[in-house]
Amino acid sequence: MSTQTPAASPSSRDGFSSRFGVFAATLGSAVGLGNLWKVPYLTGTHGGAAFLLVYLVATLLIGLPVMIAEISMGRKSRANAVTTLQTLAPTRGPWWLIGVLGMLAAFFILAFYSEVAAWIFAYILKAIRGEVISSDPTVTADEFTALIGDPVQSFLWQWVVLVLIGTILMFGITKGIEAVTKRLMPLLFVLLIVLCAVSLTLDEAKAGLEFLFKPDLDELTTSTVLVAMGLAFFKLSVGMGTMMTYGSYFKPDQNIPVTAFRVMCADVAVSLLAGIAIFPAVFTFGFVPEAGPSLVFITLPAVFSQLPFGQTLMVAFFILAAVAATGALLSLLEVPIAIFHERLRISRPRATVLTLGLLAAPATAAAFSQNLLINWQVADMTPFVLFDYVSSNIMLPLGGILIAVFVGWRWGWPAFSVALSNEGQLRNQRLARVIFTLLKYVTPLLVILVMAQGLGLA
Ligand code: TRP
Repeated sequence: MSTQTPAASPSSRDGFSSRFGVFAATLGSAVGLGNLWKVPYLTGTHGGAAFLLVYLVATLLIGLPVMIAEISMGRKSRANAVTTLQTLAPTRGPWWLIGVLGMLAAFFILAFYSEVAAWIFAYILKAIRGEVISSDPTVTADEFTALIGDPVQSFLWQWVVLVLIGTILMFGITKGIEAVTKRLMPLLFVLLIVLCAVSLTLDEAKAGLEFLFKPDLDELTTSTVLVAMGLAFFKLSVGMGTMMTYGSYFKPDQNIPVTAFRVMCADVAVSLLAGIAIFPAVFTFGFVPEAGPSLVFITLPAVFSQLPFGQTLMVAFFILAAVAATGALLSLLEVPIAIFHERLRISRPRATVLTLGLLAAPATAAAFSQNLLINWQVADMTPFVLFDYVSSNIMLPLGGILIAVFVGWRWGWPAFSVALSNEGQLRNQRLARVIFTLLKYVTPLLVILVMAQGLGLA
């Protein structure tokens, strides 16, 4: 357990202990079901390579600068997201509300994300037992529908996941988050590369790769661009204070832009590898890429059943996905936990229990979205879909605009450049200028434009 007292001074504050630990934990936050579930199904339903291209551009121009902004703010203040905005605002003002908005977004994301993680964990067991493996997608579809249609299983698996993640978090930063992600992230890469190697030997590998990498720009619409941008925020875990919170655990000599850039590259690599693992197989066995959210749960098991060692590979895939989900969930829960721990001065275990308690209502609404509450819809969306849509396409971009505006127009250039250069230790002023200019002008304008268009406001 963490021995830290609630009102710890900065020097005794828990944090990441090594360079690799910082990288693994930050990458562990970025890499998640986003890469293995969202990127493949959104790419599949939005036309393939053109969507992927917009997502990559948004990642570089919007996601990366906001990530760098968040980490440097967090490291400067060494505190949770709410306190960070409060202390960095030169004159007080309602800036801390950005932290509150972020915490709200964390609960929205956690609610549906923990349910998808629940299906993943359930599928590990099902795959080991050989239950979901069939070459007939109507059979695999029935299996999936039975799982999500069962309120008891949906609810229980979700709490298996949440209690597991909550337990890790009670151990704190070094002994909890860092210890776990340091071991799991390398495993994820190894498993993914094995799956890619198998997929590339399949007959229709070329069709799969073309779908992923040969853009057809006619496929793009304004709502597609909004979804791609929302994905860029979601993927890098930015726009809601996660990276601020993790930044507060960074060591003073960590090179922030370099670390952020590496995390972005590794995260994009995992998404592309996931696509390479999935789409050649989808095309080879005559499935459609447009299956939607069920792609990994219905299409993939049918694909695996046709591969040599299919069942073993399938177990491997779902373990991989569970690993990815774990690192991301840790970072999502850490945002409210850090806020409650430091603002309410309660111990980490208590803050964890409080967070899970508050999460219970929205999480249950998400768990029951496909069964008991299926008719409980707002604008044709179940709670599950609504939480996902509102968080990615409204809350994260909005948080991103506010963070960019905060850095560009309030925190300001002198403070930002000092933070980015580790108090003058690094010679990266030109780079810092570029990032600052992006944050001050480009990010807010671009995000407002895409949001207005995508939401049909302009
Ligand atoms: N980035 C993670 C993924 O791709 C999800 C995630 C973790 C996240 N922390 C976040 C998304 C904070 C938005 C904000 O699965």
